[in-house]
Amino acid sequence: METHKKLTIGLFGFGVVGEGLYKVLQQTPSLNACIKKVCIKQANKERNAPASLFTTEKKDLLFDPEINVIVEVIDDADAAFEIVTIALHNGKAVVSASKKMIAEHLPEILQMQKETDLPFLCEAAACASIPVIRNLEEYYDNDLLHSIKAIVNGSTNFILTKMFEDKLDFNESLLLAKQLGFAESNPKLDVEGYDAVNKWAILLNHAYGIVEHPDNILFTGIQNIQLTDALVAKEKGLDIKLIAQAKKLKNGKVAAFVLPQFIQNGDPLSFVKNEYNGVVIESGFADKQFFYGKGAGSFPTASAVLSDISALRYNYKYEYKKLYHHIPHELTNEFYVKVYVSFDDWKFIPRDKFEWIEEWHAVAERKYLIGVLPVQELKQHTWWKENQTSLILTADPIIDNLDIINLKKRSLELAGII
Ligand code: HSE
Repeated sequence: METHKKLTIGLFGFGVVGEGLYKVLQQTPSLNACIKKVCIKQANKERNAPASLFTTEKKDLLFDPEINVIVEVIDDADAAFEIVTIALHNGKAVVSASKKMIAEHLPEILQMQKETDLPFLCEAAACASIPVIRNLEEYYDNDLLHSIKAIVNGSTNFILTKMFEDKLDFNESLLLAKQLGFAESNPKLDVEGYDAVNKWAILLNHAYGIVEHPDNILFTGIQNIQLTDALVAKEKGLDIKLIAQAKKLKNGKVAAFVLPQFIQNGDPLSFVKNEYNGVVIESGFADKQFFYGKGAGSFPTASAVLSDISALRYNYKYEYKKLYHHIPHELTNEFYVKVYVSFDDWKFIPRDKFEWIEEWHAVAERKYLIGVLPVQELKQHTWWKENQTSLILTADPIIDNLDIINLKKRSLELAGII
């Protein structure tokens, strides 16, 4: 039987995740993994570990021949990319939790793995404690993966829960998310959807073999959601969540985005509260499967890093099967979405851009409509995130191009227009 390799770790970062990992590793001696050095930015900060463990010199880790694993959990994406590059080129396996860095440098990271044949594992970079990357890599065949719908950002889910269920205001909720170690050091990344779309770019790669820069994926965050939207949702028996979604269309291409969405009571994602994340995968024959777990925080994130470290003992690597062994999928913006839009004044809404509008409420101070838009309109214009306009997708939002004519006819008939 193969004996497990001894892992000598160089750790970059001793913040929420780094310190969590240090503690978790102390409680798992059977792993045969030890941290030899930790590289930090600020030398004079008080740390809960022996001073001899720390250095501010990257080279003490990256060029130490005894260190065979670099674990990188810092939040400076540029510095993280440099560390990963040097580590792989120096023959060290890498475990990373830097979602922004990975999403923005996916082609280079793929290339380096090919060139060096070394593992680069990043389970903690998406949905923290939920083992979603390895499941997408190993379990779901390309052809059978119909759709994925997920809550991938813990902080925004925490804020929405605190605001709409516990009646805290936005700033109080955000402050709590920061204090509990869920939010990014720049919380705009959470609130405005950047963190979620970075994670989505990573998951699209493992799910469908798509290599796309996050800038090319349609997204926004929760910054425009109004209290009146929550009242409308409540009236209709719905929740509002920030949802990342991808679905294979009839032409074989993939529709993908990260946008606020109404979720029906009883949908598995409606049970995902606070900092938890959830992923619903729909695949041929198996139908729906639901993954649920903590998506942010010290120990949940450290547990994913720990699992990657453990996988290195048997030389586990991602094979990127969907990218290299199947025909990878392509993203498309050729589809429609059914949206709810609330606004202060009709002048902010380009009504002629809607394929059809099937409901409108124009009497109250805050007005809203429900209608169908081509996704290109949302990709090319920004009216839907300006002037306090709030756009929320309806519960089953994606309309295939091939279905639009029939659906439009049926909707106009129902409204008594034709
Ligand atoms: N800020 C991130 C979140 C941390 O709230 O989901 C976990 O990636």
